[in-house]
Amino acid sequence: MKCAGIREAEVVLAGKTYKLAVIHSLANAKEIIAKIKSGEKKYHFIEFMSCPAGCINGAGQPVNMTPDYRKNRTKGLYEADKMLQLHKSQDNPYLKELYSSKLGDVGGEKAHHLLHTHYNARRRLKGKSMLIMDGKNDNRLEIRVCVGTSCYLKGSQDILHHLAKHVADKDLQDQVVVKATFCFEKCNKGPTIKIGNTVISGCDIIKATEAVDKAVEMRTHNV
Ligand code: FES
Repeated sequence: MKCAGIREAEVVLAGKTYKLAVIHSLANAKEIIAKIKSGEKKYHFIEFMSCPAGCINGAGQPVNMTPDYRKNRTKGLYEADKMLQLHKSQDNPYLKELYSSKLGDVGGEKAHHLLHTHYNARRRLKGKSMLIMDGKNDNRLEIRVCVGTSCYLKGSQDILHHLAKHVADKDLQDQVVVKATFCFEKCNKGPTIKIGNTVISGCDIIKATEAVDKAVEMRTHNV
């Protein structure tokens, strides 16, 4: 992946040097805040992004089951960016024309009214869940993996990938159905999965896989 978790730069504007930093993921944010508090680091501007590698791999991206999807998406976007001639919106002649002919001042009342948005919760999935693998039996054990923002940031997408592969490798598609779903209201304890009616928090790949295997075995033996 191209992005390191902590990137620093200096830019000179009107003869003055400004120190900038871009921080990806909250573990790096914690580290940099500690260094600022101790006086080891000083910046004029810091951009913090909670997701690894920033919005390119953020929780707002679609659920993706392709291997290496993060690496590929990052590579594709950086390559597309290299081919573009314009990198700053303020240099875009269409935007300049739009402001001069319709919107008025940048940051003015009309632009603010028409272009700014408000925060409201947006779900990554339409409906209650998204089916990850197909199968024939309607009476399958349901495994739901939360891909809500909090669980996503703690690695639930990797758990989803792994469980889908595990079920396929063990040829369990007609016994088990894997779904991506959204928020079991246990966000601070995630990643969270649900197997049948049992919600399991604090999952990692090993814990989730063992829980699935155990549930399948119990079902097979009608325990
Ligand atoms: S985001 Fe997963 S339980 Fe809320």
